[in-house]
Amino acid sequence: MRRRHLRGVMAIERQVYPRPWSPNLFLSEMAESKNRCYLVARIDREVVGYGGMICYGEEAHVTNIAVDPLRQRQKIASRLLHDLVVEAVAMAAEAVSLEVRVTNWGAQRLYGRFGFRPVGVRKNYYQEIGEDALIMWLDGIRDPVYRRRLAELVDELPDGIRPGVVRSNLLASQVAVHERFGGVVPELASRAHVEALNPLLEQALDEAGLGFGDLDGVAVTVGPGLVGALLVGIAAAKSIALATRAPLIGVNHLEGHILANAIEHGPDLAPAVCLVVSGGHTMLVHMPEPHRYELLGQTLDDAAGEAFDKVARFLGLGFPGGPALDRLARQGDPDAIRFPRAMADSGDYDFSLSGLKTAVLRHVRAEREAGRDVDPADLAASFQEAIVDVQVAKTMSAARERGVERVLLGGGVVANTRLRDRMGKAGAEAGIEVWFPSMALCTDNGAMIALAGSWRLARGERTDLSVGADPALELA
Ligand code: KG4
Ligand code: ZN
Repeated sequence: MRRRHLRGVMAIERQVYPRPWSPNLFLSEMAESKNRCYLVARIDREVVGYGGMICYGEEAHVTNIAVDPLRQRQKIASRLLHDLVVEAVAMAAEAVSLEVRVTNWGAQRLYGRFGFRPVGVRKNYYQEIGEDALIMWLDGIRDPVYRRRLAELVDELPDGIRPGVVRSNLLASQVAVHERFGGVVPELASRAHVEALNPLLEQALDEAGLGFGDLDGVAVTVGPGLVGALLVGIAAAKSIALATRAPLIGVNHLEGHILANAIEHGPDLAPAVCLVVSGGHTMLVHMPEPHRYELLGQTLDDAAGEAFDKVARFLGLGFPGGPALDRLARQGDPDAIRFPRAMADSGDYDFSLSGLKTAVLRHVRAEREAGRDVDPADLAASFQEAIVDVQVAKTMSAARERGVERVLLGGGVVANTRLRDRMGKAGAEAGIEVWFPSMALCTDNGAMIALAGSWRLARGERTDLSVGADPALELA
């Protein structure tokens, strides 16, 4: 650490410690070069962390290790700790000691990996925040075995971000709450979120065999979606991030649906053309490289899932109607009724679905007036076919036009068996790979958000704790 680093050091010190050292205290410590060691970590010349140590004979005591809160979990603290231990050996110390807040699990876990053991508690050590300090101790630092281990540690640490491994993926279904209204009631949705969230979090950690302190990051949907429901999730995620000091990362729900494919197919998704079809969206997107999206087209009115739900309700199939309609359609003839293929020849990648819904209603009314029965299974199959036809045609022509060899499907409607089937066949004929997640990962789930978040964290992205919900957040 040099005088010129002091501004960067103080900026971090003031954020991290309840009672920050003064610049003068740092200067006088730096001047004592005999038994002191002060280091800074820098990225692109910017100070992102620092550590300090005083050596009293055989014991080296770490006075501070701090990392810019926006740069947590980037191996910076591990690097600093590693270098401090190496310096301690150079200063002829035998052991290293330090204090850490009793609730700072993340730091304790890091020190534990370096071989530090808890040896006692200092009551009310951090008076400003009324917290105790855990005293941790590491000895045997001159031992050749430990020094070899130490060299390996910097390469391994932290083990955090391993994309694609799902340890737990739980869902609190709200279907029972909304069923009797035939659709989602926003106020009830928010309240159900509040009630379900904490028990669900505990259960997920339990299943994963982890504690809050083990988390390397907290990913949360920030949009698009219902603002009340988003806010509940964001507030919970912020609290966890703040308490555990794990970084927060805001995720776009639609990116979650696309990246869900990586959970089963592996991380090499791009370049690809993606069809996102859910209760709120119907869109075609070009993904030339990871995390870059170019909107090719979208629905001008209803979303595909919305159309499924509305026609299902009309058929008395309950809510949400997509899965029930899918099941019913399997017994019907998709060619029984020729419904319009809206915008099939529009020459662009936009969709329109409200006309189809009206055509279904009009057909049923006309048949009834003519005294004929309508077979609900035929109706369901024919309606579904009209949607699937247009989606398959537009997706394949977008893939050809963009010259990609892969199509990714995402969103609740991708659970539709006919869509999966037809898209798979069309892909095989065109020599284009078609990937879709397993059923449970098509409809909304936490795993896809965790995966998208972990990828963004690995890129060094962080979301500020001041982030809010964005109901209309765009992907491109
Ligand atoms: O992605 P998602 O779970 O929630 C939103 O982000 O909207 O999508 C839910 C939508 C609902 O409209 C539901 O009816 C539809 O996906 N869906 C289906 C099927 N399973 C779910 N639509 C057609 N066939 C299915 N098998
Ligand atoms: Zn969704």
